[in-house]
Amino acid sequence: MTKRLIVPFLGLLLAGAATVASAATEVHLEPAQTNLGDTASLQRGAGLFMNYCSGCHSLGLQRYSRMAEDLGLTEEQVMGNLVFTDAKFGETIKSAMPAAQAEKWFGKAPPDLSLVARSKLGGPDWTYTFLKSFYIDETRPSGWNNTVLPGSSMPNVLAELQGIQRAVMSEHVEGGAPAHVEKLELASPGRLDPEQYDRAVRDIANFLRYVGEPAAIKRESIGLWVILFLVVFTLLAWVLKTEYWKDVH
Ligand code: HEC
Repeated sequence: MTKRLIVPFLGLLLAGAATVASAATEVHLEPAQTNLGDTASLQRGAGLFMNYCSGCHSLGLQRYSRMAEDLGLTEEQVMGNLVFTDAKFGETIKSAMPAAQAEKWFGKAPPDLSLVARSKLGGPDWTYTFLKSFYIDETRPSGWNNTVLPGSSMPNVLAELQGIQRAVMSEHVEGGAPAHVEKLELASPGRLDPEQYDRAVRDIANFLRYVGEPAAIKRESIGLWVILFLVVFTLLAWVLKTEYWKDVH
């Protein structure tokens, strides 16, 4: 490519990057700080998901048996504590609710969440912030709204844990921008304090991140061995090199 072509090409590339960056900053996402190596967190996340989410959402790409193996749970633990339908151990995680009914009740069928941590810009941060951003809003059919997904038809199913948040609106100036949600504040507390609630939704975000790519757990632990091997191999090669070159000098 000649210089004449490269310059506009680079300009285009930069403009593209800027658009992506500005789209990403529209909603402020909080860092979820999930950790796939934290098995206890993944187990708690699975428990919360099965209790609070699987009534509406399926995980069509995840089998109970695979989850048990990856999360260090026995078949009895999974079937006894986490399965509330008549599903079998080898089956995928289906929601208890028929999709047609769900659509009637919520106006929109709750989507399958197998890949949600990968499909959303921000990944686990999106799930984490979404679950922290519900507030009561009487104008909505469900009585709830969400700053990350405005107009969301999902109600705040974790309200008993989090408590109820209220929106503090910005001052509306005549002729200016319409009033928007400035921040959310806890109007009445739930069973968990804010720190415990953050941990609970971090565990759910971590679990959904795992579900998005179950092989990542193994890949990350193998990665460590690969690096270790490369370090040892480099040392060996260096020792060999000095040995050979001794005779040359
Ligand atoms: C009472 C039914 C119900 C329950 C229980 C429920 N959800 Fe939802 N959820 C919905 C509906 C309906 C939507 C679609 C919202 C929309 O797009 O307007 C949704 C959307 C979502 C989305 C966005 C998906 C996307 O692709 O846009 C995520 C993430 C999500 N739910 C996570 C959860 C988690 C995590 C739980 C458990 C803590 C949960 N949901 C429990 C009904 C439910």
